[in-house]
This record gives sequence, structure tokens and C-alpha cells, in this order.
Amino acid sequence: MRLQLTGKKVLVTGGASGIGLACALAFLDEGADVAVIDRAQGPKGAFGVRADVTDDSQLSTAVTKAVGHLGGLDVVVGCAGISGPVGTPLVDTPADAIAAVLAVNVTGQLLLAKHTYPHMADGGAYVLLASDSAFVSAPGMVPYCASKGAVVSLTKALAVEFTRARVNCVCPSIVDTPMARADLGDAAIDEADFPVQTADEVAQQVLFLASARSRAINGQAVLADFGYSARSGFPA
Ligand SMILES: NC(=O)c1ccc[n+]([C@@H]2O[C@H](COP(=O)([O-])OP(=O)(O)OC[C@H]3O[C@@H](n4cnc5c(N)ncnc54)[C@H](O)[C@@H]3O)[C@@H](O)[C@H]2O)c1
Repeated sequence: MRLQLTGKKVLVTGGASGIGLACALAFLDEGADVAVIDRAQGPKGAFGVRADVTDDSQLSTAVTKAVGHLGGLDVVVGCAGISGPVGTPLVDTPADAIAAVLAVNVTGQLLLAKHTYPHMADGGAYVLLASDSAFVSAPGMVPYCASKGAVVSLTKALAVEFTRARVNCVCPSIVDTPMARADLGDAAIDEADFPVQTADEVAQQVLFLASARSRAINGQAVLADFGYSARSGFPA
């Protein structure tokens, strides 16, 4: 399928690692012009701006720099995210750790939308990283799940308010990235008895939603979990 992303002006947050990095590289491979906003250095070939997405003025300045370089925006991908104290029961989780997860995963996406929309081209596309954790959970994931549920909600709300652009989010299950390896350990990923996606596979989902091929899809959460959440409790 030709995605016709050549020459598109693409901004990716969190593009220095994992899924964001895979997205930045995949857009570059399609011939798009790519800018990356991250606390860390983005990949070669992309215009990099260092900023913290939770800081309103830092992010505003970073978006201005990225838009100045790109000459506008066709696609915005919100990948910057943290998992926080995964594995820690809520009752043992300090308030500042809860606040940090919500700040990056929720406020960071809201500020990104706020600062980029004035520059967004007609027919543009937002693709935000939510997670299957918006819909299902395991013990020790309450703040992260709450933050990803919020991304699904803000995706719908933005799709209604932002009339010039489509807004969708992707909701992958476990993806082999530095975040997942830090949370679960290398062995859990390398010897997993559950399916694990690659960051490149998620990037292809993001590129499809960013392209005009998906122009009828708006305000949706695309759950990519190998069908796990489709299983009922019925014993058959
Ligand atoms: N890895 C998974 O299993 C998985 C599954 C579903 C969803 N996700 C989501 O995908 C997104 C990317 O995750 P990943 O696994 O690639 O993680 P990662 O840790 O490999 O990459 C995250 C990137 O975000 C950047 N970042 C974090 N906080 C930031 C901030 N405040 N300001 C600017 N940049 C910041 C980091 O520097 C890093 O480059 C996250 O939103 C995550 O919640 C991950």
C-alpha cells in the first residue's frame, strides 16, 4: 500500500527511543520531513529539539522551533510516555510518582495538542500512543492504566474539537522497547510465553493512521493486542 507520506511535515514526541524512534525512522523512510521533540537526542535525519513535554513553555518553544524548521505540520505523533512505578501496589505508591505519570502521559499529550493545532494543515492527522492498558490491567498498574484511559478519552474529545485534523490513538499490548525491558526484565521479553510486538510493527500502525488511507477513521482507539481482550470468561 502506498501511504503517500512523501514530503509530509511530521512531528514526533518521544522520538529518541522505542516506538517514537521507530515512528521517526519509518516516516523518514517514507520520504517525510521529521522533527523530534524529546528529552534525549533524536535520530540522524530528523530535526531534533530537546524539551520536556510536561513543561508548557519548553514545549511551546520546541514546537515553534520544529514548525519553523518543517514549515508547518501535517502529522503529529505523541509517543513521549513513562510507565512509572509499574509493579507497585497503589497503596504503596507515592503521590509524586502518580503525578509524574499523569504529567507525562496525559498533560504532555494535551499540551502537545494545544501547541501544535494552530500550525496544523487542513486534513492533518494526530496519532497518540495510548496502550491496551486503557482497557485491561494487571496488579500494580493503576496510575499507568488511568493515564492511558485518559489518552483514549482525550483522543475522542480532540477529534470532536479539532475540525481541521483527525485524531486517533493506538493501543498496543507489550512492545519490545527499552521501557518494557526496564519494567519486565530482558528474560521476560526474550522468553515471553505471550506475544510481543516490535516497535516497527507499531510504527506501521501509526503510519497508516497518519496517512490519508485512513481518512474515514477519526476519534478511534485502535487496540492491537493479538485479540487478548476479545476473550470472554465463558468456559469454552
Ligand atoms: N513498550 C510498551 O510495551 C508499550 C505498550 C503500549 C504503549 N506504550 C506507550 O508507547 C509510548 C512509547 O513507549 P516506549 O516503550 O517506546 O518507551 P521508551 O522509554 O523506549 O521511549 C519513551 C521516549 O519518551 C521520552 N520521554 C519520556 N518522558 C518525556 C518527557 N517528559 N518529555 C520529553 N520526552 C519524554 C523518553 O526520553 C524516550 O525517548 C509511551 O507512551 C508508552 O506508554 C508502550
